[in-house]
Amino acid sequence: MTDRHHKQTTYEVRDPTTTLEKGVVLSLETRRMFEEAIGAMRHHKTIYSDWGFGDVDPTGRNMILNLYGPPGTGKTLAAEALAGTLARKYIHIGISELESKFVGETAKNISAAFQFAASEGALLFFDEADTLLGARLSTVTQGIDNEINAMRSTLLIELERFEGVVVFATNFAKNYDSAFVSRIRYHIEFKLPDLPSRKLLWQRMLVPGVPLAEERDSLIDRCAAESEGLSGREIRTVLRTAFPRALVESSEQPMVRWEHISTAISDVRMANNNVGSRRQEQTTNAGSVEHARQMLGLAK
Ligand SMILES: Nc1ncnc2c1ncn2[C@@H]1O[C@H](COP(=O)(O)OP(=O)(O)O)[C@@H](O)[C@H]1O
Ligand SMILES: [Mg+2]
Repeated sequence: MTDRHHKQTTYEVRDPTTTLEKGVVLSLETRRMFEEAIGAMRHHKTIYSDWGFGDVDPTGRNMILNLYGPPGTGKTLAAEALAGTLARKYIHIGISELESKFVGETAKNISAAFQFAASEGALLFFDEADTLLGARLSTVTQGIDNEINAMRSTLLIELERFEGVVVFATNFAKNYDSAFVSRIRYHIEFKLPDLPSRKLLWQRMLVPGVPLAEERDSLIDRCAAESEGLSGREIRTVLRTAFPRALVESSEQPMVRWEHISTAISDVRMANNNVGSRRQEQTTNAGSVEHARQMLGLAK
C-alpha cells in the first residue's frame, strides 16, 4: 500500500483501540483542555445548527485541535484515544503517508484525505504535522518549494470546508504559520509527566502479570521518584530492557527488582545524553524548508 509507484490514494480507516479515559495518562490541565474540546464537539450541532450560529460563523463548523509537546508524551496515542472517546473511526496520516502518497500530487491527495474522512465520519489525524503547518514560503525558489506552498494552501482551504474533527500533532509548534494557528480551536499542550503522572504511567506499565521481588506500591513510588524528566515512551523503553534483564539473570524464579529498573533508567538517560541531540534537533530543524523536503521525500 505504500508502493512509491502507485500514488493513488488509499487511506486506512481505523477503529480506535482505546479512549482518553482508559488509555492515556494526562496532567490535570491537559485533561481539562480535552474535556472542554469534547464538550464543544458534543454541543456543536446545538450551537451551529439548532441555534443557527453557523449562519454567522460558517467556518466555525469544524473542530481543529493541535496537540503539541515533547516527543514520547502520548500525543499520537491521545489522538487515537480521542477518536475512541468520541466513538468515531480515525484516519492516521503520518510521515510515511506523506512521503509515499503526497509527492507530486500533494494538493490533490490532501483534498482526497478530507473527502474520505467526511464520507466515513472519521476523525482526521495529521501526525508529526510541523512541516504541513509551517509558514508558507514567501521567497519561493520554484519547484519543490512551490509544492510545499501548494500543499499548505490546499490544507487551508480544506480546513475551512471540512465539518468534522481534525487533529494535528507536533513536537514543535513554534513555526506554525499564523494562518493555521488562528484556525486551530484548541491548542493542547503535552508536558513531560509530573510525579503523579509518572506514578500512573508506572502503574499502567508494570502490568499485573509481572512478578515483582518487592512490594508493588513502594516499588512504583521509587520508580516515579527516580524517573523525573523521562517521557511515557521512555518509561516503556526502560521496562523493555528491565524485563529481559530479570529473566536472563535467573531462569528459576524470575523476579523484577528495583536494580533491573534503575539500571535501565540510567541507560535511557545516558542514551539521551550521548546519542545525538534528539530533543534539540527537533526544535531547530522542524518547520524548515529542508525538513519539509526531507519529509516529502524531496531531499536534494
Ligand atoms: N501520557 C501517556 N499516557 C499513556 N501512555 C503513554 C503516555 N505517553 C507515552 N505513553 C506511551 O508511550 C508510547 C509512545 O507515545 P506517543 O503517543 O507515540 O508519544 P508522542 O506522539 O507524543 O511522541 C505510547 O504508545 C504509550 O505506550
Ligand atoms: Mg507521535
